[in-house]
Amino acid sequence: MTRVVWLTDIHLNFVESELVEQLLDEVHATAPDAVLIGGDIGESQNVAKYLARFAARLVCPVYFVLGNHDFYHSSVSVVRQAMGQLCERHAKLCYLTLQEQAIELTPGVGLIGHDGWADARFGDYLGSDVFLSDYALIEELAGHYALDRRPMLQRLADEAAAHVREVLPRALARYEHIILLTHVPPFREACWHEGHISDDNWLPHFACKAMGDAILEIMQKHPARKLTVLCGHTHGEGETRPLDNVEVFTGGAVYGAPAITRMLDLA
Ligand SMILES: [Fe+2]
Ligand SMILES: [Fe+2]
Repeated sequence: MTRVVWLTDIHLNFVESELVEQLLDEVHATAPDAVLIGGDIGESQNVAKYLARFAARLVCPVYFVLGNHDFYHSSVSVVRQAMGQLCERHAKLCYLTLQEQAIELTPGVGLIGHDGWADARFGDYLGSDVFLSDYALIEELAGHYALDRRPMLQRLADEAAAHVREVLPRALARYEHIILLTHVPPFREACWHEGHISDDNWLPHFACKAMGDAILEIMQKHPARKLTVLCGHTHGEGETRPLDNVEVFTGGAVYGAPAITRMLDLA
C-alpha cells in the first residue's frame, strides 16, 4: 500500500514557526510515501523556505503546485523559475507545474499537476465586486482595471489547460488511475465555499474553466481510466463527480490552522 498525504492552502506565513513544526510532525507521523501540497503555501518571499523545511523533515518526496498567494509581492514567472531552481537543490522536492511526465505513485497510479488559475469564464466577471489581493500584489496582474486584467487571467489558465492537454493523455497511456494536483477548482461544481457552490460574484475568481474543459474532453475519450482531481483555493470542503470516471475533491482550510487535508491509501 502506498500512503499519500495531501495538504492544501496551509498559508504557513500566517502561523508561528512552532505550528509549522507541529504540522511537519503530524505529516511525518502518518509515515507517508509521498506528500502532495496543493498551493497557497506562503508568499513569494518565504515559499521556498517552507518547502525546504518539508524536504528537511520528511523522508519521502514532496510534490507541489503553487497557489495565487505564493506569487504575492513578486511575479508568476519569477517565482516559477525560482521553484525550478529550488527543486534542483532539493532532490525530494518536485514542482509538478514544470513536470512534463507523470510521476509513478504505484504501478497503476500516476501523478500530474499544475497551479491552474481562475480564468473569469464562470460567473459574472465584469459585474463582480470581488477584488482579490492578487490584483494588487502579483506583478502580471497589478495596475489594471478588470477588463484589461482578464486576458492575463485567461492566459495563465490557458497555460494550465495546455499543460493538462499535453501531460494527461500521455499519463493515461501508462496508468489506469491518474491523480491531478492543482490549486484552483477546474469546475463550477467544485467551487465549494461554506457548504455551497460559489455564486456568480465569486466564481470568476475561483474556478479554472479552461482546465476543466480539457479534463472533460480527455477523460470522455478514456472511459476505462480514472482521474482524481485534488484542488483547493476556496478553503471550502466538498466533492463532485463531473463524469463517471472523474472525481474532484476540494480541500477545506482555515487560516492560522494548517492541517492535513486528506490521506489516500493506494493499493
Ligand atoms: Fe488559500
Ligand atoms: Fe488560493
